[in-house]
Amino acid sequence: VEATDGTAIGDGVGPGLNGAAAIPVSGQRVVLGKVAAPEGQEATSDHFYFWVPATALVERSQLVVCESVIATRQYTFYGLVEETYRGSRKRSMAGEVDEADGDVGYQPPFVSDGYTYAKASILRTEPAVLTSPRERSDVYLATDADARLAYQVDEMGQPLGIGLVKNGGEQLAGVGCIDLDYLLGAIGGHMVVNGTTGRGTKTSFLLTVLWLLLRLARRQAKERPSDPNRLRIAPIIFNVKGFDLFYIDRPNNRFDPGAHLGDWQRLEVDGPGPFANVSYYAVQQPGNSLPVPTGRSEGVQPYSWSLRDLVQQGLVTYLFAEADIQDSNFSAITDDLEAWLTNERTANDGTATRSLRADRGQPTTFQDLLKWTRQQAKAKEADRELGGHHSGTWQKLVRRLIKVVYESRGALRRDDQEGNPLNVARADTSDPIVIDLAALADQPELQRFVVATVFRQLVTARTGSAAVRDLVYVVMIDELNRFAPRGARDPITQLIETVAAEMRSQGIILFGAQQQASKVSEKVIENAGVRALGKSGSLELASPIWRFLGDGARRKAEALPPNEKLLIQDNFREPLHLRVPFPAWAMNPREAGGETVSRADGGDDLMAIIDK
Ligand SMILES: Nc1ncnc2c1ncn2[C@@H]1O[C@H](COP(=O)(O)OP(=O)(O)OP(=O)(O)O)[C@@H](O)[C@H]1O
Ligand SMILES: [Mg+2]
Repeated sequence: VEATDGTAIGDGVGPGLNGAAAIPVSGQRVVLGKVAAPEGQEATSDHFYFWVPATALVERSQLVVCESVIATRQYTFYGLVEETYRGSRKRSMAGEVDEADGDVGYQPPFVSDGYTYAKASILRTEPAVLTSPRERSDVYLATDADARLAYQVDEMGQPLGIGLVKNGGEQLAGVGCIDLDYLLGAIGGHMVVNGTTGRGTKTSFLLTVLWLLLRLARRQAKERPSDPNRLRIAPIIFNVKGFDLFYIDRPNNRFDPGAHLGDWQRLEVDGPGPFANVSYYAVQQPGNSLPVPTGRSEGVQPYSWSLRDLVQQGLVTYLFAEADIQDSNFSAITDDLEAWLTNERTANDGTATRSLRADRGQPTTFQDLLKWTRQQAKAKEADRELGGHHSGTWQKLVRRLIKVVYESRGALRRDDQEGNPLNVARADTSDPIVIDLAALADQPELQRFVVATVFRQLVTARTGSAAVRDLVYVVMIDELNRFAPRGARDPITQLIETVAAEMRSQGIILFGAQQQASKVSEKVIENAGVRALGKSGSLELASPIWRFLGDGARRKAEALPPNEKLLIQDNFREPLHLRVPFPAWAMNPREAGGETVSRADGGDDLMAIIDK
């Protein structure tokens, strides 16, 4: 017999057995107990009770299997132990006290032992029937193979192993999978993770899933490069806190191979390593060509836009707040302005190229544009270059332009002809792009502008004629409570809601994290095909957004250690309880050790770096 974690165990004595007596073993499975259905504890299509012999130990959150013959057919019920119970044969506490005559040192000559039983909720019935198991059916401890079936791995379009299935307190039951059809768009899309700060390990979890996705995509590219259906992933990561995510290409100095490598190897990753060839972008400083200081000495590129860049990419109207654009006079003047600045050419294949017009002395820098709008605002209607707008609207345009250009500091180049606009479009699976938003923390308008330009570029990249079918852009935004708070109607929130609700089919997938889902836009949470729960507070878990969780899952979520998660996917009847491997890349500057990793020594060669 093999225990669920792969270690050999003695003849017929299964894991979790506390007595000397062997428990009967049937095939590979260890018999744990027998279904019982007395009055008040009847079996239903949802759960059943089973008693456990004195020699066996049953734990809450173990996976069990029950074989039951019903109407001459054999059915298999896969269950999750919700709770264990121990009862004595006394009718009341008074009886217990009286047995010892109230003396703790007294050993009664005749003792009648109590009994143990457990309640299991049913995860799956095979063949699929909605019925209850029969009493006296055998209940077994689940094997790795059973655990896969319990969580429908056999029915998944594209399973991806992301952790190890917890099977009681210490045991594991093989690799736990999510279905990429639910994550990347075929059936559902997007993933959000919830958890208290630090202990919830949200950001590391998202990066772990990203790492495993990238690895799978690279594998498939190597094994079948010309397969049009292979997985293609382009990750875009927004850094929102400090410059924490500017070190994901460095080994994690807290990664201890002795303690942490085993879990990766169980996921069939022999040498986990940092991300390789990461591109980092931070906003450009005013007056020079450098990015703002990030703490990283090399490899960070600046991003910024000149007027010319904005026109070329069709971003002029993005400069203004949504509330302004909703004012029809204002949106008319910005549309006119954009048209007056833009020269648009459509090629035979339908692709449009835009450039800055120069036929009527159009301004070429923001500084010129400011000067020009000021002149227009002051001029008489007959002398204006763009007719048909009130003076008040012109003045509003001047005020808004001054505000956005001056407040942007370096992001909008006041006097430069050329900026360094972000280019996030990719042709195939590529290494992560990390874009800093943290340095813009005091300018939400500008953060929105950056996020919006990225999404806009992705939509264009996915729908243009050069669109790469099946390339999935995974956009990771941490701290959703800041960017898409519940009840907010501001432009960033609306943008993220639109991505969550509509962009899945366009190959744009959101990976989000938050401390409290109850404080994040419902639309974003509801549209996530996969939800993960790290350790969360009881107040948070009592909020309506978690109403669907059973009692058992809720208690589990309150007590999860940093390396465990509950995974919720539509077709799971109960959350999947996983142990997630420790990140091999630095999660912040304090964890950064060793040297930056480039493709040649990335991935499966981390051990070589650690050994150096
Ligand atoms: N699987 C794991 N097992 C054990 N420790 C982990 C694991 N993943 C991450 N950690 C540790 O926990 C720390 C915090 O993780 P992380 O930054 O992911 O938390 P967070 O929930 O995103 O926190 P915050 O709310 O502050 O953003 C990491 O720096 C890492 O050292
Ligand atoms: Mg975090």
